Amino acid sequence: MESVGDHLSDSNGVLCIDGISCSEIALRFGTPVFVTSERRIRDSYRRIYDAFATNRKKFRLHYALKANNNLSIIRILRSEGAGADCSGPAEIFLARLSGFSPEEILYSGNYNSDSELEYALRSGCIINLDDATILDRLLAHGDPSIISFRINPGVGKGKYEGIVTAGPDAKFGMREQEALSAYRHAMKAGIRRFGMHMMTGSNVLDAEYFPIVSEKLMGIASRISTELGIEFEFIDIGGGFGVPYQPGEEALPIEEVAKSVVGVFETALSGNSRMGDPTLVVEPGRYLVCDSTVLLSTVTHVKRSYKTFIGCDAGMNTLLRPALYGAYHEVLLANRLGMKRNMVANITGQICENSDMMAKDRNMPEASPGDILAFLNAGAYGFSMSSRYNTRPMASEVLISGGKAEVIREREDFTDMLQRQRVPAHLL
Ligand SMILES: Cc1ncc(COP(=O)(O)O)c(C=O)c1O
Repeated sequence: MESVGDHLSDSNGVLCIDGISCSEIALRFGTPVFVTSERRIRDSYRRIYDAFATNRKKFRLHYALKANNNLSIIRILRSEGAGADCSGPAEIFLARLSGFSPEEILYSGNYNSDSELEYALRSGCIINLDDATILDRLLAHGDPSIISFRINPGVGKGKYEGIVTAGPDAKFGMREQEALSAYRHAMKAGIRRFGMHMMTGSNVLDAEYFPIVSEKLMGIASRISTELGIEFEFIDIGGGFGVPYQPGEEALPIEEVAKSVVGVFETALSGNSRMGDPTLVVEPGRYLVCDSTVLLSTVTHVKRSYKTFIGCDAGMNTLLRPALYGAYHEVLLANRLGMKRNMVANITGQICENSDMMAKDRNMPEASPGDILAFLNAGAYGFSMSSRYNTRPMASEVLISGGKAEVIREREDFTDMLQRQRVPAHLL
């Protein structure tokens, strides 16, 4: 259990989260249910925040709400001192609702509509544009006091192809030449405060990657600064800090990463006095919430056919990552830990798609209907990517805090799925 965090423990063969038995949680709240340790989120926040803040005073951390948009979880991170990184108007809305001031919110959209730009401008948050030519569409709605542009530094890295968000194949950000004209245009439009941003990929466990890609960004920032005489208020190196999901993967040495990134950052600043003294910003999602949460699911049926299938009540509708990327999530038999993994099985949900595989050819203990499975590392891009596909109600979420378990999102019922549907009179 140590390798997956001290919030998870084995009590007489039953998985516990901060001392509370997963069997009891499943019984009390039903399944599928996402169960989150508040303590683990706070620990992860402090670990990454301290790693950077001890190396650089001018440092800020924005939590990427897309990883997990539960209001209670957003509030936990705000109470720790995080800002918010938002990908769209609804996330700006959630951030404001959770008490973040507009200046604490960075909005990084892509392929924005005019109405999204207008919403962001009205909200007063800091806007980070994904393409130079979006600026004119933004200016049509008013003048931002500060603007940032997202750079694609030409390289990216991510655990799966779908989460590599920079480099020649990525749809995000702009090259240096477009960035140069973007900042020039913004200056001409009267904007005087600037930031720079990149987000080059997610779930990176290679510590050496972060200083390398940060150096690229700092080079671009330095050249633009020299050319245009811009001082940056902040330079944001994005998120992407990885978490081990798979046996054998090592935790990212975050102190080492922070130290080397700050080293690169400050070397670049000392080499070019025109750049000013920008705040270093990071915007992690996964690192803060991923391992805080397990998804509990009940085994519904075991089929022995060409292969053995363990069927359960959580599928690609609940946790999409395995179907979307072929992502690995560790699966435990939560009510009978320590059993020998003496069979090979595919673990599947109840969705009518053959991509509805939560794990393939996995060594598992003998499982029977009624057993409880725990999918680990379900806190990031878990609930937030889930859907109602096959007309399955959304799962519930439970927070473990101060030795108590409390619902933080109720399970949907069938009537929730009627929400906002209208049936024309001739069909009634
Ligand atoms: C712009 C932006 N910032 C931050 C993040 C958070 O990334 P991660 O969860 O890898 O830290 C993402 C994730 O896609 C993103 O698109």
